[in-house]
Amino acid sequence: MSRILITSALPYINGIKHLGTLAGSMLPADVYARFQRSRGRETLYICATDEHGTPTELAAAEAGVDPAAFCAAQHEVQAELGAKFGLSWDHFGRSSSQQNHRLTQRFAQTLWEAGFIEEKVTQQVYSNADKRFLPDRYVIGTCPHCAYPAARGDQCENCPRVLDPADLIAPRSAVSGSEDIEIRPSKHLFLRQSLFSDKLRTWIDGKKGDWPLLVTSIALKWLDEGLQDRGITRDLEWGVPVNAAEWGPNPDGATPDVEGLAGKVFYVWFDAPIEYIGATWEWADAKAAAEGRGQADEAEWERWWREPLAADVTYVEFMGKDNVPFHTVGFPCTLIGANEQRGPDGAWGAVNNAPWKLVDRLKGFNWLDYYGGKFSTSQKRGVFMDQALELLPADYWRWWVVANAPEGSDATFTWEQFQTQVNADLADVLGNFVNRILKFTETRFEGVVPDGGAPGELEIKLASDVSAKLAELTELMEAMEMRKSAQALRQLWVLGNQYLTEAAPWTAIKTDRDRAAVAVRTGLNLVALFAKVSEPFIPFAAEKIAGGVGEAFPGRWPQGEGATLLNALQPGTKVAAPDVLFRKIEDVQVEEWRERFGGEVEPA
Ligand code: MF3
Ligand code: ZN
Repeated sequence: MSRILITSALPYINGIKHLGTLAGSMLPADVYARFQRSRGRETLYICATDEHGTPTELAAAEAGVDPAAFCAAQHEVQAELGAKFGLSWDHFGRSSSQQNHRLTQRFAQTLWEAGFIEEKVTQQVYSNADKRFLPDRYVIGTCPHCAYPAARGDQCENCPRVLDPADLIAPRSAVSGSEDIEIRPSKHLFLRQSLFSDKLRTWIDGKKGDWPLLVTSIALKWLDEGLQDRGITRDLEWGVPVNAAEWGPNPDGATPDVEGLAGKVFYVWFDAPIEYIGATWEWADAKAAAEGRGQADEAEWERWWREPLAADVTYVEFMGKDNVPFHTVGFPCTLIGANEQRGPDGAWGAVNNAPWKLVDRLKGFNWLDYYGGKFSTSQKRGVFMDQALELLPADYWRWWVVANAPEGSDATFTWEQFQTQVNADLADVLGNFVNRILKFTETRFEGVVPDGGAPGELEIKLASDVSAKLAELTELMEAMEMRKSAQALRQLWVLGNQYLTEAAPWTAIKTDRDRAAVAVRTGLNLVALFAKVSEPFIPFAAEKIAGGVGEAFPGRWPQGEGATLLNALQPGTKVAAPDVLFRKIEDVQVEEWRERFGGEVEPA
């Protein structure tokens, strides 16, 4: 049986995440991880905060603390919110960790020595007032094309042409507003992505039909446009330092310009995906420390990431569509490049007999919108994780977001639709079913699973319907079809409700106690089954439901025939109705929330 390695795109450190971020990566990854664990597979679900880059430095400055302190505090906030949302990370790491520093520097060195990194001098904007280089988008000025006064150095939002900071009229620093800026030459490292085009194309062509069309088409579009060599260093302070002094010569015999590269750090998009590996290393170290073994052996994390140790690992990545190019081109170049060497004659050859693992299955998502407009962190538009939990328990959000995952196309959150679906699916269908059968068992069967007679026609039909639906659900979960899985799960719950209505133990008990007992026993077994299959989606409610019928939590994903599954509970087992599983969302709440969070469609 294969092991499953799961990563979800690493959330940026600055700012609490909104429902859109949950929908496009962390939550579906969690659902899949919980499913695989309950299937009995050895599963490792890795996430981390993505901590480097200019926005972090600026956010820290605004908060009046240094970036390290800022990140440490924000990491705690995100870790806690993730836990409250039931995100079952095996490790929630930090891209600023020592492990990631070491790995990032090691990858860069290997890539340099293999001939995949080049030095170039680039012209950068330097702000004398801020005493720092400014990334293009932190230079502001008047657009030379449309005269928009607040055009950014990378693009004019108004017209919307792509710009170079040098194009701007009256350029100034977005940080301080100072016009005392100048262009300075600066040495930088470039990853020679263009050399990898053919290899990447062959690799991605082979994923067609397996990966979502969204993903392969984005990746192939990038390849069709021709891969650009990519700058992987920046003039910043906060980040992984470029360690060029330690590097040997490249295949042409050249050594890096240590002086010219002094004080630079790697670009955030270079070190962030490496943190998938870094966080696995952090996980192994944390585990070793907890077991009193000091630090982990490298093999403990390498068994997830390097062949041949990782030969039985299936590596699955979850992300929003904007992240796809970095995961189908950028990160694979880093990994492939570190596996191979390009000799002076241009031929490829392996240098490394423990190659890095590439992603096997990549699940990409479209956007989740808020009333047809964007969720916006900067404009605080939409619902954020902390606010969401103030309003309602995590399961309500988990259910709605997964049931409406933006898979085939973008999806839209509205309070009205959220209310309708949560009330119907969770309160009316699942909650009502669990409550009805458990309450009845308490009042008429002393709160224990009754023995009763043999299954009748209704139970035989139910068993076969349940078998079929369960098989469908299992297959959809394996295929990571989130929406369809949620739908199949809901249909299972509906089968239970329909059965109970038809079997009507409350009527049967008046004339035939045995018959009522069969219905109650079957109903209680459905409850146990629902707890298991619902756990990946709504783990908090699933735990209460499992407890109601005396089952361990989390349970194993049900396997086998419906007839067996519906007779699994030991007669005589004590059961008890949990307190209210789901409260209905009221119209007045929807009105209030709409008002508070804004519910207008954004003007186009
Ligand atoms: N922080 C990025 C985002 O939110 C995602 C980084 S994914 C990683 O878009 F692989 F680079 F870490
Ligand atoms: Zn313009």
